[in-house]
Amino acid sequence: MVQPTWSLDSALAEFSSVFRSASEALNPENSLDPVSQFALDGQAGAELRRLLPPEHRRRLGAFFTSHELAHQLAAPLIEARGDVVVVDPSCGAGDLLVAAAHTLGPSQATGQVNAQLIGIDVIKEFAEAARFRLGIQSRISGHNLPAKLIVADGRRVAKLGVATHVLLNPPFAAIAADQNWPWAQGNVSGAADFLAAVVSQIPHGCQLAAILPEVLRGGSRYGRWRDWIGKHIEIEATESLGRFDRWTDVDVFLFRGYRVDGRRKVRPHLWVPAYDGPTVGDQFEVTVGPVVHNRHPEDGPMRPFLTARGLSVWETIERVEGARQFRGKTHCGPFVVVPRTSRPDERGRAPGAIVADTRLIAVDNHLLVLKPRDHSAKTCKSLLQVLRHSSSDAWLDQTMRCRHLTVGAVASLPWVNTESLQVFDGINTSRSA
Ligand SMILES: C[S@@+](CC[C@H](N)C(=O)[O-])C[C@H]1O[C@@H](n2cnc3c(N)ncnc32)[C@H](O)[C@@H]1O
Repeated sequence: MVQPTWSLDSALAEFSSVFRSASEALNPENSLDPVSQFALDGQAGAELRRLLPPEHRRRLGAFFTSHELAHQLAAPLIEARGDVVVVDPSCGAGDLLVAAAHTLGPSQATGQVNAQLIGIDVIKEFAEAARFRLGIQSRISGHNLPAKLIVADGRRVAKLGVATHVLLNPPFAAIAADQNWPWAQGNVSGAADFLAAVVSQIPHGCQLAAILPEVLRGGSRYGRWRDWIGKHIEIEATESLGRFDRWTDVDVFLFRGYRVDGRRKVRPHLWVPAYDGPTVGDQFEVTVGPVVHNRHPEDGPMRPFLTARGLSVWETIERVEGARQFRGKTHCGPFVVVPRTSRPDERGRAPGAIVADTRLIAVDNHLLVLKPRDHSAKTCKSLLQVLRHSSSDAWLDQTMRCRHLTVGAVASLPWVNTESLQVFDGINTSRSA
């Protein structure tokens, strides 16, 4: 039998028809009907993974929020009173709106709130699926919240101007920065752009809860973005959530706050824990290795070449064995290198190796280079002890849950006295502790 060829259009059409069928098959007498329960909890993500190959999901930025996380985001709606307009400007199949309907339903029934839901998505079939799923939720719960589903670019819709609450899990894929943003240049995270667009349109007082990639919370590239957001939002929480779900290898955090006048002075927010004692950055200049092996031409002087592959971590490299031609910046020992890839929640997140070789060494860009400011091998040895200490793992887990260690995260590591360990059993953020 000839297999029909896959097309995005037919995959999306099938996606929405799955929920049309679930809606038609619904038996409102039986609210525990597993078919309806599944339609509201897990099926959207499962159908998306079944119907769309990963590269299409990534291109569309389509990753639907789990039931638990969606309910965590929507939970504060329980406090809402009066007229409430909940907008999800990138609603996908409506998981955040379904959670909002579930949370608001009882207050709607008792007249404590007069709520409406608005979902927006660029993909028509996702917006349709959201409509069917909200219908299922409404019939199962018996709580009828009016809902509008709109096919549009959620970064530019007038409806944002009437929102009292925004729930958001935006597309994360990198996009070219809008020239008008004061904080952006080149390619930026789509999530940074989306959140800023939403923030600039919602009215003052509007509550915002979002799931965002960790890189925005700690990445040094997004410092100006954080400053800009901090001027317009009174931030109530930036809480690390770990991995988005078991199919999606991206670490995320929960962002909560409400819109304030951009001219008002807002309380400064600590996006990541701050340490006001001495740091690794005080003792070392931290940079990324300058060699991009497959991009830099192999010409110029022959140099010893150090890469992350086969690196003997926690040891001293007396002589670098690899070699290549390289014209750019080199480093001579003693210094410390740390692989940039690292796994949150694992021991030894930033394992270092001391490079004692004093020749001019080309270092691959998969390694961070830490040059002691006092040029001393002893300080490099102290650094390995600091990196090895469990407090450094804990610190990195709190500040940087991304797979890539950043210059900023490593430079911000507390410079602990590993002999007395007086400061750091667990993380203590006070200099005098
Ligand atoms: C990460 S998914 C999240 C969906 C839903 N909010 C959830 O949490 O399950 C992002 C959604 O944004 C949609 N999207 C991408 N670009 C958009 C845009 N410019 N305006 C509105 N929606 C967009 C995608 O189609 C996708 O459904």
